[in-house]
Amino acid sequence: MRTDIDSFWIFALASKCRAFTQENIAWSLLIMGLAWTAITLIYWAYPGGPAWGKYKLKNASFTISKPIPGPRGLPFIGSMKLMTSLAHHKIAAAADTCKAKRLMAFSLGDTRVIVTCNPDVAKEILNSSVFADRPVKESAYSLMFNRAIGFAPYGVYWRTLRKIASTHLFCPKQIKAAESQRRQIASQMVSMFNDHEASSFTVRGLFKRASLNNMMCSVFGREYKLDSFNNEVEELRALVEEGYNLLGILNWTDHLPWLADFDPQKIRFRCSNLVPKVNRFVSRIIAEHRAQTGSETPDFVDVLLSLQGHDKLSDSDMIAVLWEMIFRGTDTVAVLIEWILARMVLHPDVQAKVHDELDKFVGRSRAVAESDITAMVYLQAVVKEVLRIHPPGPLLSWARLAITDTAVDGYHVPKGTTAMVNMWAISRDPEFWEEPLQFMPERFETKEGELEFSVLGSDLSLAPFGSGRRSCPGKTLGLTTVTFWVASLLHEYEWLPCVDNNVDLSEVLGLSCEMANPLTVKVRPRRYYYKPTVLGVPSYVLDV
Ligand code: HEM
Repeated sequence: MRTDIDSFWIFALASKCRAFTQENIAWSLLIMGLAWTAITLIYWAYPGGPAWGKYKLKNASFTISKPIPGPRGLPFIGSMKLMTSLAHHKIAAAADTCKAKRLMAFSLGDTRVIVTCNPDVAKEILNSSVFADRPVKESAYSLMFNRAIGFAPYGVYWRTLRKIASTHLFCPKQIKAAESQRRQIASQMVSMFNDHEASSFTVRGLFKRASLNNMMCSVFGREYKLDSFNNEVEELRALVEEGYNLLGILNWTDHLPWLADFDPQKIRFRCSNLVPKVNRFVSRIIAEHRAQTGSETPDFVDVLLSLQGHDKLSDSDMIAVLWEMIFRGTDTVAVLIEWILARMVLHPDVQAKVHDELDKFVGRSRAVAESDITAMVYLQAVVKEVLRIHPPGPLLSWARLAITDTAVDGYHVPKGTTAMVNMWAISRDPEFWEEPLQFMPERFETKEGELEFSVLGSDLSLAPFGSGRRSCPGKTLGLTTVTFWVASLLHEYEWLPCVDNNVDLSEVLGLSCEMANPLTVKVRPRRYYYKPTVLGVPSYVLDV
């Protein structure tokens, strides 16, 4: 091992050498400083900024290919500023200025990035096997996500996890099997809003707890009541919230490796505090499942424990996978429901049309069932329109990484480049959407014989769940849950603004894009009064 003492010989030698006068040392330092500044400026001068310039200078073959247009940002750190606050807005504006909407290059410190605001180029990136990897993110690795689906390197392990999750959690049969659990949580939400009839209230906390309870039931087999405090739920909620926070922060050390030792944003420190708590929590649940014999309705923990042969996972891998499912399935769903209800409050005409549809297909004498949703094309159009105008992942949450050198839109893109898609910009582009800033669910209504617009990734002019190999595996589960819960909440209540707190559509971007000011509303019951049964399961009694 090299020690500080090992390097003393340099100073000893220097003291003997007459050339090392103070003046000479000052000159040498000045020349070195100037050379460093010149190199920094040369790197920076290249379109896309320092990371692209550095690559160009070190790789002669890249010289012959035309550069991807893009902002230079600042010497050394590049365009870090683009990724702060509302990154999707800033990137879209920069792409406009640089006339680089199809493909723009920029630098985040040492990281080369490309981003597109064009659906054809987005398809090229997302559906290419070259971009089937995710860039390294220290927080994701520290929080074990590299052993779960989201950040596992593209390969056999990742494929195995996706296969297990699609077969046992996301397949139509499993989604259907969880219907009664979603129905129960919907009724609990409805009855909790009943308590707030006279006053205005903020909805976010309840939606987050509802989605967490839903995922805890599917994944851990745990059932909790929404209206009662439970230590386990609160503990997990705090863990998920902290994880979300950490993953949503732009970590400077991901892009400026020389900063890594300092951990200036204390991200590593917070991750190392969080991980043992997650490990303890999930390990306890795994141990309890091991101790049980023969569960009637196997949950995802039972499934993972029953795997054999090549599919069998170690305990630490199991913890990572289970934690990811809870983590991913909680906020995305809650964030989307909040946006939808905000739009319903802002557009009473649209809300009235959904109410008409509910009255026509469900009627006021019973609660909505999931089987009603297929007929409710206007409600589905509303969900799509909200996904278009407020995608929960405007930059598709997690970027992609080029595994090899490749070409995108005719430009050379070197291995190791991070690729992003600005879905927010695409789904608001007047070139692809008529009056894009207007909230018009009617644009998704289809006439007889017309094909329905799919938001599941086949048409990149609106693909809020991504596309290709690494697209969201939870998209059908997420959409089913959101659509059914929104249908239930709208069936039971009229959603109204509150006088002193108007709906504010400002955004805040972390891992997902949420309303900056949580939605506060009033509700007016439409069809029932609530009467708890002896079993504690709410029943609905006709009010007309
Ligand atoms: C409204 C709900 C949701 C939205 C908008 C959403 C959006 C996304 C997006 C944009 C991606 C990245 C796709 C890409 O790179 O092409 C993603 C990935 C992922 N999502 Fe979702 N998601 C939702 C719900 C869920 C749910 C309910 C789960 C699981 C319970 C889930 C699990 C995942 C996982 C594991 C990945 C990583 C996939 C991989 O890297 O192979 N998501 N999601």
